[in-house]
Amino acid sequence: MIFTVAIDGPAAAGKGTISRAVAERFGLAHLDTGLLYRAVGAIGGDPVAAARALRPEDLSRDGLRSLEAGQAASRVAAISEVRAALVEFQRRFARREGGAVLDGRDIGTVICPEAEVKLYVTASPEVRAHRRWLEVGGDETRVLAEVKERDARDMGRADAPLRPAEDAVLIDTTGMEIGAAVAAACAAVSARIGEGRG
Ligand code: CDP
Repeated sequence: MIFTVAIDGPAAAGKGTISRAVAERFGLAHLDTGLLYRAVGAIGGDPVAAARALRPEDLSRDGLRSLEAGQAASRVAAISEVRAALVEFQRRFARREGGAVLDGRDIGTVICPEAEVKLYVTASPEVRAHRRWLEVGGDETRVLAEVKERDARDMGRADAPLRPAEDAVLIDTTGMEIGAAVAAACAAVSARIGEGRG
């Protein structure tokens, strides 16, 4: 079975939790594509060379989840040659036998426009910053400023800007418990799997 679930959206909207839950519930492989950009940013030096030479073990480097690593990721992610170097790996993962969930910014629009299910997960910047602050601590005002800065860079870049695919199901998690968001995502996947079988 080839079946792709593409989950896009801005920082700390709940994509990671939803992706992991959908992958587990339906027995699909999961790729957090943000980790690829975080690793490229963390390696330092020439980001294009780092992207071309990226190895699986780079994805388990320490500190990839920090705010600084997120900012570095969004800076290298605006470079077209970096994105181009990472496309093939993501496409192969998306169309692997057995099915896959990928979460990121451009999965439904660029990496896998043929995905069977596309979700766009979002929430207000304040709610997203609060959730990220609960994870990383520090000064919440600074976390909000970082979230807004990253949103602006990710949505404003020329290559593969963050935006919902036309046929994406929108899940706004602003006033939603994470359990309800997971249920909404699973319902969208179940509906499509049911169609395939029917
Ligand atoms: O976890 P969070 O949503 O904060 O970030 P992430 O998904 O790990 O992504 C980090 C950064 O990588 C984003 O701000 C984007 O600039 C970039 N990214 C991207 O350009 N395309 C993707 N498919 C995934 C991440």
